[in-house]
Amino acid sequence: MILGKKFGKIKQNKQKKDMEKIDLERLKELAHSEISQSKNLKELDQVFKRYLGKNGQVSLILKDLKTVSPKEKAKLGKEINEFKSFLEVEFVRKGGELRSSLVDEETGQWIDTSVPGKKVNLGHLHPLTQAKREIMMIFQGMGFNVAKGPEAETEWYNFDALNIPADHPARDMWDTFWLKSEKPRLLLRTHTSPVQVRYMEKNQPPLKIIVPDKIFRHEATDATHEAQFYQLEGLMIGEDISVANFKAILQEFLRRFFGKEILIRLRPSFFPFTEPSFEMDIGCALCDGKGCLVCKESGWIELMGAGMVHPKVLENAGLDSRKWQGFAFGVGLDRLTMMKYKINEIRLFHSGDLRFLQQF
Ligand code: DAH
Repeated sequence: MILGKKFGKIKQNKQKKDMEKIDLERLKELAHSEISQSKNLKELDQVFKRYLGKNGQVSLILKDLKTVSPKEKAKLGKEINEFKSFLEVEFVRKGGELRSSLVDEETGQWIDTSVPGKKVNLGHLHPLTQAKREIMMIFQGMGFNVAKGPEAETEWYNFDALNIPADHPARDMWDTFWLKSEKPRLLLRTHTSPVQVRYMEKNQPPLKIIVPDKIFRHEATDATHEAQFYQLEGLMIGEDISVANFKAILQEFLRRFFGKEILIRLRPSFFPFTEPSFEMDIGCALCDGKGCLVCKESGWIELMGAGMVHPKVLENAGLDSRKWQGFAFGVGLDRLTMMKYKINEIRLFHSGDLRFLQQF
């Protein structure tokens, strides 16, 4: 009897355990299909209540737990917890799916709002504008102001005030677009240098400015020439500003703009508005001075014109040339940008060709 009783008990427990196991697995399948088949949030909520509600399947099974042995209880408890978290994951998944699906009122069709939208392609700044802004940031960081002047300039500011009189051979250096106007004679400025005089007339030294702006040349276009392009003018005036200041400022600018140390050298030159005048070359950044096609095997690239501002220019702006002195420089902004990004065709800038523009 005792044996039998014991045996009976064991057998009964075993049966119960098997039953629970099968029930849980079947229940899991059932729950999965009921959740998946829910057509809307209301239906899903009903399924939720059936399983996880106050009198739902899970709490019923938990109540049954009381009837099993402590050892079984631990094992079964674990399985029930797993079932519970399975249900929770399923409900969250289906809920999200239903919430992101809407019905189109007109057609009655499902709209899946979780489908990614059409990508809107944002444009970006033109490479020249990017370079211009970067240059402005660098010079502003060294205390320079950004100055502007008119694109339709008077003959006086473009030539005469810069010590280039009407019969001066230097005027041949610039082919010019003249506008139909007399008194004053107007032209599309051929360089940014006129802004030097305009600025000095209105501002007392010491002063430091750059003029990154548009200029016009009446000439045929080719890979390195455009009729309309940008220049970067620089001017620094004080009581004792010298070529040493020029070298230090430009060296620092080039280091920041190109992101590495750039070699520079000055060669004597001539400009009517500077005395002495010089050209500044930089060590070829492509071959590191070893010699290549771009630098024509010389290791150097001609970059800009510069010099100490001519006393006549200072006087034309109303400054006392015995008290004030300083340097000026002018460089093609397009040229700087071409060197930075290794672009070999200036006309690409204004081509509107997206294959080119999208690289920046
Ligand atoms: N204005 C000159 C040009 O267009 C460039 C230039 C040379 C500007 C020397 C300067 C300078 O300020 O000092 O070719």
